[in-house]
Amino acid sequence: MPHIVVKDYKRFTVPVKKEKFDFLWFAEPLINAKEKLVGAIYEKTPFLITLKDNKRGETVIKSDKVTRLSPTTVVKKALKNFCELAECDVIRTNISQISDRHLKKSEEFLKTIEFFADNFPKNREVWIEIGFGSGRYLLYQAKNNPDTLFIGIEIHRPSIEQVLKQIEIQKLENLYIIDYDARLFLEFVPSNIVGKIFVHFPVPWDKKPHRRVISKKFIQEAKRVLKVGGVLELRTDSKNYFDYSLELFLEQNRVKLEVTKNIKPPITSKYEDRWRRLQKDIYDIRMVNLEKSAPLKISFGFDFEKEFDIEKIIKNFDSKPKVFEDYFVHFERVYKIDENRILLRLSFGNFDRPEHKYILIEGKNASYFSKKPVLSKANIEAHKKIEELLHGK
Ligand SMILES: C[S@@+](CC[C@H](N)C(=O)[O-])C[C@H]1O[C@@H](n2cnc3c(N)ncnc32)[C@H](O)[C@@H]1O
Repeated sequence: MPHIVVKDYKRFTVPVKKEKFDFLWFAEPLINAKEKLVGAIYEKTPFLITLKDNKRGETVIKSDKVTRLSPTTVVKKALKNFCELAECDVIRTNISQISDRHLKKSEEFLKTIEFFADNFPKNREVWIEIGFGSGRYLLYQAKNNPDTLFIGIEIHRPSIEQVLKQIEIQKLENLYIIDYDARLFLEFVPSNIVGKIFVHFPVPWDKKPHRRVISKKFIQEAKRVLKVGGVLELRTDSKNYFDYSLELFLEQNRVKLEVTKNIKPPITSKYEDRWRRLQKDIYDIRMVNLEKSAPLKISFGFDFEKEFDIEKIIKNFDSKPKVFEDYFVHFERVYKIDENRILLRLSFGNFDRPEHKYILIEGKNASYFSKKPVLSKANIEAHKKIEELLHGK
């Protein structure tokens, strides 16, 4: 991660602009925080730089993780510009080489959840593979169905990197990859748009069933996003997972279920090859959706009502995590910018994929610093609770 270690730096007068960066304010740690923060904007995107003292009395200057800019080149430029303004006495740095190289093609195909949440591509049929692993099945399908948009969901970073490389090598234009928990992804997908969802050899999680991809909620969401005639396909070598899933599939109305055993698909995945060599049985359940679902209609501004009281917020600050049925709220740290402005750092939302954010309180107004939260049900509920708690209710 780009950083500069300095013996000393000067606090310069803010706000000030340098190249494409606006440096807005300095924030001092007030509650539970150690580092100082610098608020800045790069081409309309707010971000933070952290200034943290280490044991040797040096200050490490780097980009804040929550609001980090991308690509890394921009982060390096932000740190360099900051240090020029602050007349840093540099001890060491890893930002000496700043290249203006363009995004690698493969990186264009790695999407964020905001990309899907803000503007889900709706111009063609979508097929989704969950937990694609080596990507053999996903790449084969994308190559053979060029008019379909493929979305591959994985949480294992080396698998993601490997498939991104293959997208570039094979010159595929119809495959997006996302590093996200598949149990939460479908809630961002519009209704009736998906032709196929593949769940091949999911981790059985026999001891932690709540971590399984297949659940009642997942099947319901899958049915909503599938077109009429669209298919959710589970393939597993685990009889236990098969039995558990079949029971859940049977709870659904207006679906056709097809169960097969030891059928060879057009291309086998790495896991499948392994199980075949061991002569294990392989079970398929295909759920065909037979009804049209209502459109997905969620809209929410993530704005705050006015009339916040900074003194009261500081006095009542409670950093114990608050856990509710489907979400949590955890106020973590407070920073003070000046008498009229504070910055809160918090995490909230879904337990499996928490949102980390800052809230800037300016006088009686509050807003998320940097981007608003992703439009998920858990984040909407958490936002309402945050507002209530900040108002001291
Ligand atoms: C047993 S491997 C199967 C890989 C591939 N489908 C195959 O057949 O070779 C399961 C894959 O699911 C991924 N995975 C597990 N839980 C996940 C989740 N909640 N969201 C997305 N991917 C997940 C794992 O990282 C792993 O790569």
